[in-house]
Amino acid sequence: MNKNKHIAPPVTLVVFGASGDLARRKLMPALYSLYRQGLLPPDFAVLGFARTKYSDEAFRSLVHDSLKEYSDQEVDESNWADFAVHLFYQPGSYNDRASFDALAAHVDELDAQFATEGNRIFYLSTPPMVFKPITTLLSEAGLARRDSDGSFTRLIIEKPFGRDLQSAQDLNRHLHQHFDEDQIYRIDHYLGKETVQNILVFRFGNGIFEPIWNRNYVDNVQITVAESLGIGTRGGYYDQAGAIRDMVQNHVMQLVALTAMEPPVSYDAKAVRDQKVNVMRSIQPLRKVGYAEGCVVRAQYGRGMVDGQEIPGYLETPGVAPDSTTETFVAWRMQINNWRWNGVPFYVRTGKAMAKKLTEINVIFKRPPLMFFEEVDNKFHIPSNEITLRIQPNEGIHLRFDAKRPGPELDVEPVTMDFLYEEAFHRESAEAYERLLLDALLGDSTLFIRRDEVEVAWDRVTTVLDSWRGQEEEALRTTGKPLRLPTYAPGSWGPPEADALLAAEGRRWRNR
Ligand code: BG6
Repeated sequence: MNKNKHIAPPVTLVVFGASGDLARRKLMPALYSLYRQGLLPPDFAVLGFARTKYSDEAFRSLVHDSLKEYSDQEVDESNWADFAVHLFYQPGSYNDRASFDALAAHVDELDAQFATEGNRIFYLSTPPMVFKPITTLLSEAGLARRDSDGSFTRLIIEKPFGRDLQSAQDLNRHLHQHFDEDQIYRIDHYLGKETVQNILVFRFGNGIFEPIWNRNYVDNVQITVAESLGIGTRGGYYDQAGAIRDMVQNHVMQLVALTAMEPPVSYDAKAVRDQKVNVMRSIQPLRKVGYAEGCVVRAQYGRGMVDGQEIPGYLETPGVAPDSTTETFVAWRMQINNWRWNGVPFYVRTGKAMAKKLTEINVIFKRPPLMFFEEVDNKFHIPSNEITLRIQPNEGIHLRFDAKRPGPELDVEPVTMDFLYEEAFHRESAEAYERLLLDALLGDSTLFIRRDEVEVAWDRVTTVLDSWRGQEEEALRTTGKPLRLPTYAPGSWGPPEADALLAAEGRRWRNR
């Protein structure tokens, strides 16, 4: 046993899709950073597996180049060589039994060479269509062992996990033929962000916020996950997904769950995930309130300027069907039907090519009775108190309240109290993947998505997808033409329809 409880145990980590984008941008820099912090044990091996034919040497230099390009730390050439001796590569096909037999032999060799005690982690950093063949072949090659004799086998699986409820359930059933639930680590990289984890600390580590975090005091909650970039070269992938699958089913749902959940009995995987599932179950499925109209807005960005550069409209993007109804923006008025939140709308929105890259949660409180300040209120339109959890960038927390402006008049002005991570802690937060990889190595699944969680999130999203399909069929039937989605200007906060969603209830989005 390692004395430091954060040092990973001996292990062979097999990375499928090792030459791909995610591995190069995120996984390898994360591993290297863990290594440099002394959080990997001396007895670890990384075995890259992908179709491209590399030698160990070529793979090592690919990793070296990736670190130079994507790591936020300089590569330290003096310890690079020590790290590199742990890296290996095996070319192979994801559908070929012989490749997996060779993989099994290779893993055994590394096991012996690095004394990894039979511990294995298989990381699926590949397109989703090979998740099933890989896990089937791992099983056939004898690599999908149930945990036994003190050694462990784990599977880390990237998103997208399914494309609707049925396919997610189907993938879960498939995985469960070969692995137990506690061997499966479904990634949502938002959970690896320090600021996302801090939502729980803020809420449950302080005595003063939780008592007012409910329908008696909160007027509405707004969650924005905005990105300034357009689709760029990802048209082929994105047109099959859209904002609701790409961002809402996973990242946005997680933010909703952490903001709205009840306190867990302890900070462990079961307790935290039980409460997240509970609150997701309380999200009103749209099938119960009819079609999505009035609750959900979807749109596509048109042609325009982003960061001083002209980008083509979504429908003109390479890889996108010219009559596509895939949304690049979605806003959803969620209703959480439980004791704490009944009647408090959760407005969530996410989109590409928006005004800026920004993720934040705004908890907007009810206004005071205002009898005393009525006149002042009419004069200045005093806004409500707000707590803003800024997830990225400029990570921090802001509390807005009213203060008297100095002077003989009774002038009231909103001011903020600001907490900024960087200022408070004088260091940057670790990369999300670093934390997630370490947790998977340590066997802590608190920050990974459980089977019931992924399914309930898909269930709610699928009700929206179904109602959209209904709208599209109806448009085709009545007009003979495919439905055209509303558009918004790149660099804006979304279409006017999203503003109307809130305006209908006398509210407006917080755009910063
Ligand atoms: C990914 C989506 O899961 O998250 C991307 O597939 C998106 O489309 C990305 O750009 C956003 O992540 P982050 O950490 O930059 O907010």
